[in-house]
Amino acid sequence: MSSPRPAFTPAYAPAATVTPLAEQPGGDELRIALGMPELDRLLGGGIVVGSVMLLAGDPGIGKSTLLLQAAARIASGGEKVLYVSGEESGAQVRMRASRIGASAPGLLFAGETNVESVVALLESERPKLVIIDSIQTLYLESTASGAGSVAQVRDCAQVLLGWAKTSGVPLFLAGHVTKDGNIAGPRVLEHMVDVVLYMDGDEMGSYRILRCTKNRFGSTNDVALLEMRGDGLAEVNDPSAALIAERQRAVPGSAVIVTLEGTRPLLSEVQALTNMSAFTPPRRTANGMDFNRMAMVSAVLSRRAKLSLGNQDIMVNVPGGLKVNEPAGDLGLALAMASSYLDVPLDPDTVFLGEVGLNGEIRRIPQVERRLAEAVRHGFKTAVIPKNSASQLSESPGLRIVGVDSLREAMAECGLGRAARES
Ligand code: TYD
Ligand code: MG
Repeated sequence: MSSPRPAFTPAYAPAATVTPLAEQPGGDELRIALGMPELDRLLGGGIVVGSVMLLAGDPGIGKSTLLLQAAARIASGGEKVLYVSGEESGAQVRMRASRIGASAPGLLFAGETNVESVVALLESERPKLVIIDSIQTLYLESTASGAGSVAQVRDCAQVLLGWAKTSGVPLFLAGHVTKDGNIAGPRVLEHMVDVVLYMDGDEMGSYRILRCTKNRFGSTNDVALLEMRGDGLAEVNDPSAALIAERQRAVPGSAVIVTLEGTRPLLSEVQALTNMSAFTPPRRTANGMDFNRMAMVSAVLSRRAKLSLGNQDIMVNVPGGLKVNEPAGDLGLALAMASSYLDVPLDPDTVFLGEVGLNGEIRRIPQVERRLAEAVRHGFKTAVIPKNSASQLSESPGLRIVGVDSLREAMAECGLGRAARES
């Protein structure tokens, strides 16, 4: 028999109070709209007061630009916004501000890297919104390691988070991601903050894609497309139209695919160029596409569709600077390569969807209906899709559907079959 448990006596009085959940503050009035529709939508309807948002991305991608634009938006409404930079001088930030036309009296700047000094500033200024650029430049005196270390990033974020929650002032943190995929800093942050936005894109291209990968106050899996212009980042209202705007119709080596960014379908052009190589081994380059997928698809074309690509240089490009990493783009990629090699253009009013397997089979892809609807919206007349996906369509999608089982069948349907036999 066990002896009765002693009564629980807490050593200290609980600090928290208990209140009915229904009496907690809530509702739409606790959001601040930026007036940048795509960004507001991505955030779930604006910035939630007291929330901490992380904007992560490669150096040079445009984080500071976007955050300064957001700051200027709020400040131009007569509010006070504090932009804290540990990376750039006031003069540099001012230059960027004049470039993007941001000049509101309430837009304040502080060059500060000591997080406790930052909090002291925030306490005395009580702005409507705070930008910290970047979290890696801040340090906490009591943390032993250097600025930018994982411990520093975590501890500084903790201090700022605490302040945001008690003050109700929202904070944007810029966070760098390193090229080698080592995102130690921002990864630690992801668990702590309320919202995580990733900015991605080809630094040389003009488009930037903004992904929301975490949102405690809204949905994730959403994206917005932005364009880097001479005067800052502009929202792109119809991303699909923008991405295929400069496409030349009926030229060999071009295929239109529909990728999914989160739940959003986007039309993209895939370009391929094959050329007799002067090198051994021949050169292969992939821009905006995974190199290994390109290598796999070209190997399947050689073996299963009998195209002798072995001595060809192959270049693949997705114009606009987006990265297509989805198997659903395989068929378009394969047909673009075949089209270039055979010098026969694909029909410009057709989209191509499907994953290519190692046996040359065309495999089913997710969310076909959503993708087809986007193609229809942009005036496409035909879709070449996996037979397995075609048989699952519940209703008529509004364009001609060609279901294919294999790469050879797809090539035959696209008028490449005879050219392939003759090559
Ligand atoms: P920046 O916002 O400084 O990037 P990050 O903070 O992520 O490091 O933007 C860097 C690039 O953007 C820089 O190469 C110049 C370009 N840019 C424009 O093309 N137009 C503009 O209006 C601005 C402000 C920057
Ligand atoms: Mg910056």
